[in-house]
Amino acid sequence: MAESGLAREILERVRACLPHGASHALHEPTFHGNEWEYVKRCIDTGWVSTAGQYVDEFENRLVALTGAKHAVATNTGTAALHVCLKIAGVQAGDEIVVPALTFVATANAVSYCGAIPHFADVSETTLGLDPAKLAQHLKRTTEKADGACRNRATGRRIRAVVPMHTFGHPVDLVALDPVCREFGLVLIEDAAESLGSHYRGRHTGTRGLAGALSFNGNKIVTTGGGGAVLTDSPELARAARHMTTTARVGTGWEFVHDQVGYNYRLPNLNAALGLAQLEQLPALLKRKRELAARYIKGFAEFRGARAFEAPEFAESNYWLNTLLLDADRAAERDAVLKTLNDHGVGARPAWRLMHRLPMYGDCPRMDLGVAEDLERRIINLPSSAHLA
Ligand SMILES: Cc1ncc(COP(=O)(O)O)c(C=O)c1O
Repeated sequence: MAESGLAREILERVRACLPHGASHALHEPTFHGNEWEYVKRCIDTGWVSTAGQYVDEFENRLVALTGAKHAVATNTGTAALHVCLKIAGVQAGDEIVVPALTFVATANAVSYCGAIPHFADVSETTLGLDPAKLAQHLKRTTEKADGACRNRATGRRIRAVVPMHTFGHPVDLVALDPVCREFGLVLIEDAAESLGSHYRGRHTGTRGLAGALSFNGNKIVTTGGGGAVLTDSPELARAARHMTTTARVGTGWEFVHDQVGYNYRLPNLNAALGLAQLEQLPALLKRKRELAARYIKGFAEFRGARAFEAPEFAESNYWLNTLLLDADRAAERDAVLKTLNDHGVGARPAWRLMHRLPMYGDCPRMDLGVAEDLERRIINLPSSAHLA
């Protein structure tokens, strides 16, 4: 693939935003705090598994940081999403609205419940679910029957909507509220990428019935692998805690379980790492926002692409910075990606859209014009906090 003039110019601009160095990964964790000390304490004391003080401390710290009343730590963000859907009462055969532009875990969690993802389009302003377009689609294609919103084509109930805060940028949740009300949809937020992001002063993942966070190694804060369910409901938090600890009842030496549970609890070892990371969240956020500002400024006068800037109602964590190629330069996306990566700049395209994946090709969906357009134009740029 020949190196295009645009690719070269983008490479120079991106380099000018980054520190001097041979190569920069797309995203790397930053360990500058108490990580060693806390993890070592787990090993020294033998408390490495799913019981131990760090899991509770990690959850308490999440409550303080997000303003959610309850946080239940899980061993992946995918598990947290699965549990959110279960405690929201999602049943096999339900349809659940999810954006077509997302990481596959959003749709997979729906499938784990035996439910069917119903793919929705996104907005170019937020890169997340477009509430107005969803409302029009539901008006045209659903009917109310027995108090439920039914897809006229499939006859299935549409029970919930799962907006995802793409690359950390909050979805316009106030605009989504009336849509949820009108069609009786439960709101569950996939906030896997948006720890530290606020929407109109409120932390992402705390507006709906429940929200899921991820602490995978590529996120702003990592536990190695991990996640959490956020909710304000004590009953739902209790249900989530029970479900994630194999639904074990009693604390004696007998193993008794009262439902089909999951082994989803976050181990103490991971929580220890995560607690040390959470202590540094304000500093990490500051650096990530500084790096984003540098990209935005660096591409402000550029012809051919711009760095995505979150709308003013959003306070984004800028987990992954995004370059949006102009529509008439979309054909050069792969050449730009190749040039960047050939020169040590870790860049990647957006995820393959959900309805293009073999297992989700037959799922219901609305017109996905914006997601399809963005898929051709998105390039994620190196975003590690230490690059600021
Ligand atoms: C949007 C989204 N949802 C869900 C997940 C799942 O999180 P995990 O990898 O911790 O299972 C991720 C991240 O990996 C994600 O980016």
